Amino acid sequence: MKMRKVVSVIGAGNVGEHVASLLALRGLVDVRMFDIPRKDGEKVIEPVKGKALDIRQMLAAIDIDAKVEGYTVSPEGNGYEALEGSDIIVITAGFPRRPGMSREDLLEKNLSILSVICEKIKQYAKEAIIIVVTNPVDLMTYAVYKMLGFSKRKVMGMAGVLDSARFKTFISQEVKVSPKDIHAYVIGGHGDEMVPLISISNVGGIPLKDMLPKEKLSELIKRTQFGGGEIVDLMGTSAYYAPAASIVEMVEAIVTDNKRILPCSVYLEGEEGKYYEAEDVCVGVPVKLGNCGVEEIINIPMLPEEREMWRRSVSSVRKNLKVVEEMLHARSVL
Ligand code: APR
Repeated sequence: MKMRKVVSVIGAGNVGEHVASLLALRGLVDVRMFDIPRKDGEKVIEPVKGKALDIRQMLAAIDIDAKVEGYTVSPEGNGYEALEGSDIIVITAGFPRRPGMSREDLLEKNLSILSVICEKIKQYAKEAIIIVVTNPVDLMTYAVYKMLGFSKRKVMGMAGVLDSARFKTFISQEVKVSPKDIHAYVIGGHGDEMVPLISISNVGGIPLKDMLPKEKLSELIKRTQFGGGEIVDLMGTSAYYAPAASIVEMVEAIVTDNKRILPCSVYLEGEEGKYYEAEDVCVGVPVKLGNCGVEEIINIPMLPEEREMWRRSVSSVRKNLKVVEEMLHARSVL
């Protein structure tokens, strides 16, 4: 009988390998990593197997028990048999942003990669809960949801936890209080029009808007909205420590069934779609996570100006969704 939960991470690049090592360090789950081979001159190498081995040896050095395995797969979809038995699958495979690129520039290439991966998930891990990380994440979550045909409660995108962590970091630096005592949510699309919610943000229970002047708040909002780009400009590629930690937060909420409320990109329709004025689209809203995945979508209150920002954010996701829909039509998914 399988006792420990299994988390598979597809794409063991910067984000994926950090997810694997953070998960392993917590000792909560077993981890399976999947990635394509690479060429080192004429030689074909298998970095994913090397990374898994390195993580296992790290665990042995600090007395943590967790199984970590690496599997080399092909872009055409060979080698995914070990997805079988996965409770959660984290998808980070694809290309990250380089300076000057928007997340949407990645769309076509990453969608093709994800369509192969979805076929394999359907073949080997029909019961798994899926966390999509590949950018542009709201569009990719939508595409994965449609391609898999799983329940909408089992497919979610990671963005809001990361954006909220960035927002909390900037607030914490400004008010000089531990981020632990800062409650702040960022919702909306994972793009420059994401919505940091000032009205419900607080520091130790005191409303943020009572602690900082308006101009400072606008500055924090701007910095959060461009938080990813700030790192791309500094590092030459996109962030991975904070994204990996944000994914681990979501995985832990699901595995331990702790019912945390975290902002995630989820499929909206029906009553929730009405509240959020967003139908047939994946976008970031606060949700309750537990071992069934998304257990509830929370209708968070917004001030009129925040709602205006929210509408703009949704419409910018929706604009690019048309391209995804065409691609999915071409693949006979829609
Ligand atoms: N199948 C499996 N893995 C693949 C495939 C494929 N067809 N194509 C690429 N990969 C792997 C790459 O080999 C690489 O190891 O996906 C990994 C991506 O890792 P990085 O290039 O290091 O990118 P990373 O910074 O981890 O970002 C991954 O997450 O935050 C988002 O925008 C980011 O979309 C990007 C994703």
